[in-house]
Amino acid sequence: MDLIIKNGTIVTSESTFKADIGVKDEKIVAIGFGLEPSDQTEIVDAEGKLVLPGAIDGHTHLAMPFGGTISSDDYFTGTRSAACGGTTTVFDFVLQGQGELMGDAINRRKVLADPDVAVDYSFHIGVCDVTKQELLDSMEDAVDMGVSSFKVFMVYDFGVDDGSFYQVLQKSTKIGALVGVHAENRDVNNVLIKQYLAEGKTDAWWHYMSKNEDVEGEADVRAINLAKMAGASLYIVHLACKQGMDAVTQARDEGFPIFAETCPQYLHFTSEVYKRERARDFVCSPPMKGKESQDALWSGIISGDISTIATDHCPFTQAEKDWGITLKDGSPGNFTTIPNGCAGIENMYPYILSEANKGRISFNKAVELCATNPAKLFGIDHLKGALRVGLDADIVIYDPNKNVTVTNDAMHGNTDHTIWEGVEVQGYPIATYSRGALVYKDGEFLGKKGAGKFIKCKPINHKTPNL
Ligand code: URP
Ligand code: ZN
Ligand code: ZN
Repeated sequence: MDLIIKNGTIVTSESTFKADIGVKDEKIVAIGFGLEPSDQTEIVDAEGKLVLPGAIDGHTHLAMPFGGTISSDDYFTGTRSAACGGTTTVFDFVLQGQGELMGDAINRRKVLADPDVAVDYSFHIGVCDVTKQELLDSMEDAVDMGVSSFKVFMVYDFGVDDGSFYQVLQKSTKIGALVGVHAENRDVNNVLIKQYLAEGKTDAWWHYMSKNEDVEGEADVRAINLAKMAGASLYIVHLACKQGMDAVTQARDEGFPIFAETCPQYLHFTSEVYKRERARDFVCSPPMKGKESQDALWSGIISGDISTIATDHCPFTQAEKDWGITLKDGSPGNFTTIPNGCAGIENMYPYILSEANKGRISFNKAVELCATNPAKLFGIDHLKGALRVGLDADIVIYDPNKNVTVTNDAMHGNTDHTIWEGVEVQGYPIATYSRGALVYKDGEFLGKKGAGKFIKCKPINHKTPNL
């Protein structure tokens, strides 16, 4: 064996037990006691620590052209940061160009990602154009290439209309794909933007008001109805409102394969952040909502109606966030000219595990939400998401007694601020292994640029709310 992690407490989504883990050739080869080391075996003592599967961040935007710029973390800095927060696989978004075949879009982004990634990765495709049959049909090529999940945007200028959304849903059922959706009502959003700007309401609070609870909730309900009509499964990404949570719960109670992801920022912050001095730093879509929504999301986690947690990591610099005040050319900005997105790729596992450490959820639930369920949902559970013999040795050692106050300075991405600044977490990952290689230890990145690899997803066929 190459590595034995001894004396730790193993936490899976299902159970918690003391055992040692043996690793050879990137895989977990043994779990138990009395594992026999050879002369070459490295022994790591995890006494008093938890041993967890590496997290899978199912939603990131690395080097993404958006809002007149490019998100500040590229495939190296973003995955370096992920590794240092205990995340060993990221699902990044390929945004399809107008008229671009899905396979071409995947290859275009693989060229960027492959030389840079420090942990393993896969893709979802952000669908922007299915106006021609060959574009819609090319979804099948993506599934053959190992990309079996697609995201449809109901908002933004590159979003699609309900007809295209419906076609994508129909297609997905035939080819073994999962459709994700960014649900916000674009038309109402645009009307509200116009009204607020005409009234001189330009600051970040009005970003929230123009994408309020109802604007998101209506689109969540509509998306679920479209999925039901098409007989398709649906994954609502970054769910942030009570109305949407209620609709997901109801659809799942009725037996429909509807799944929801939420993000740590919606669980920790509320719309009150849009009253802060630098409220523009918190502008993301959907925006953080009121306390009632936050409580509903936590209830959804407890009930099992939230299936996954992901970050929606999409950082921009403060200078770019300042476009909400003054644009590059010196003209006045407003809440619509702030690039949307926040950092968080390094904070997901520490935050959720900290909530587990405080007793809000179990550690098993934290593992289920951040590792096991994303692996099952996106079709990589044959490789990742659990601690089991035969799976990739993506392992995190977690010290439940190491308390950390998050600062941007201590993060490992290419960001100049973080919404997590000053947040205290109880417990912290102290080591991360990516396929058996130590990539992070005690605050230091030890991995290598390009050491991560593209993970092919299996076709997906969720017929019931099985997660
Ligand atoms: O504000 C966000 N979430 N930016 C990234 C793009 C998206 O909608 O996920
Ligand atoms: Zn989105
Ligand atoms: Zn996103």
